Amino acid sequence: MAPPGKGGWDRAGPAGFALFLALAAAPSLVFALLAFTGALRPAWAAAAWAACTLVAASFAVLLARDMLAMTRLVRELRAAPDTPPAAPRLRLPGMGELGTEALRLIQAERLARRRGMASAAEARALVERLPDPLLKLDGEGRVIWRNGSAISAFGGETAALLRHPALRAALAQALREGQPVRREISLTVPVARDLEATLIPVGGPAYLLVSDRTRERALEKMRADFIANSSHELRTPLASLIGFIETLRGPAADDREAQRQFLQIMAEQAGRMQRLIDDLLSLSKIEISEHSPPREMLALPPLLERIAAAMEPMVKAHKARLAVALPPDLPPIPADADQLAQLFTNLLDNALKYGRPGGEIRLSAGAGADERLPPGGVWVAVADEGPGIPREHIPRLTERFYRVDKGRSRSVGGTGLGLAIVKHVVSRHRGRLLIESEPGRGTVFTVWLPGPPGQTDKTGP
Ligand SMILES: Nc1ncnc2c1ncn2[C@@H]1O[C@H](COP(=O)(O)OP(=O)(O)O)[C@@H](O)[C@H]1O
Ligand SMILES: [Mg+2]
Repeated sequence: MAPPGKGGWDRAGPAGFALFLALAAAPSLVFALLAFTGALRPAWAAAAWAACTLVAASFAVLLARDMLAMTRLVRELRAAPDTPPAAPRLRLPGMGELGTEALRLIQAERLARRRGMASAAEARALVERLPDPLLKLDGEGRVIWRNGSAISAFGGETAALLRHPALRAALAQALREGQPVRREISLTVPVARDLEATLIPVGGPAYLLVSDRTRERALEKMRADFIANSSHELRTPLASLIGFIETLRGPAADDREAQRQFLQIMAEQAGRMQRLIDDLLSLSKIEISEHSPPREMLALPPLLERIAAAMEPMVKAHKARLAVALPPDLPPIPADADQLAQLFTNLLDNALKYGRPGGEIRLSAGAGADERLPPGGVWVAVADEGPGIPREHIPRLTERFYRVDKGRSRSVGGTGLGLAIVKHVVSRHRGRLLIESEPGRGTVFTVWLPGPPGQTDKTGP
């Protein structure tokens, strides 16, 4: 039990006493007056007065107790807002219901507040985990709050973003019109980025949602560049063909020797166009199939032997030597035979064209553990003794139409698409391509292809 002072009697006591005085004052005055004027015998007046005073005192005590119970309830609620208080026991008629209703009201309010807090916490967690940066700005464009993605995407560069003139103009417009405003923004520091910023006004402040469009823009540019490059690559031989046709029709109409020479060049140019179209078609076919890895199991040695045999005339023409070293027990892997034939033909073709004339080309394979490659699966390597590839070109070699020496590639009948095809075939097989080159010593292209899905490394340590 709390001491009376602290338990609430300090307020309920005086209030009860004041009530008693107020209730007892009028009857006391009336009885005194009646006894004084002789209208009531003093003994009767005293008895009636005593009865009224007793009733007033009892009422005052009951009321003071109820007030005390209510005061304690409110104090308990204030001290421990999360523990449900016991229903107060109120004595006066009507007070009990009033107390129960008050308690119900408090509990309903508390439930609503708890639900509100839970949904606010949920909303906070959602914006905090949003993959796109989200910032809350005041009317002046200062940051009030930002989510985790905004911190990791912009960090200390947020001020530079918010200073961007297009963003400031968009914020002003959004606040003025009360409607979301979207803008494309390019940032140059710390790295070049293409962003799409959406400003959403919400009364006073505004939210800024930023989406990174760098990848999409790069892809769009790549696509546009690819079409431009393809047309350019096709237009050059076509222009040459048209030129020779004009010459054959006009000035060289009767010159047999010139005709022979021009027709030879025209055949070469037509061949170049055909190779280009063939490579473009292969590339698009491989790209279409790229999302679904092959399922048929294939033993690589017979396939590689066949490819090597087919290359033999070309090897002879280059006065080179092709050394094939394939372990017969190479485990079969899921692979697309046609695509792999294209892949290794392209690699051997490059080794012949860009290798050392009269040099050796080695085609080898294996399944052993290699720290440069993922565990399991098999690898196939094509090595040449050519001049090699300068280091700075290596990361870009598999880009479409990328050639270290354009003139040389053209003169040997290259399209610039061979390694792009290799990259896409490897990617469809979920494999890896490793390019190692030592200037002056030669180049090794290693293709690693995974074993059947779910198979663990049997060759590892
Ligand atoms: N074995 C190699 N040795 C040196 N350079 C190579 C080798 N393979 C490829 N390259 C370089 O990579 C470029 C791209 O090869 P590729 O995509 O096959 O195109 P292409 O052979 O039609 O020119 C070649 O132009 C060449 O400069
Ligand atoms: Mg090539």
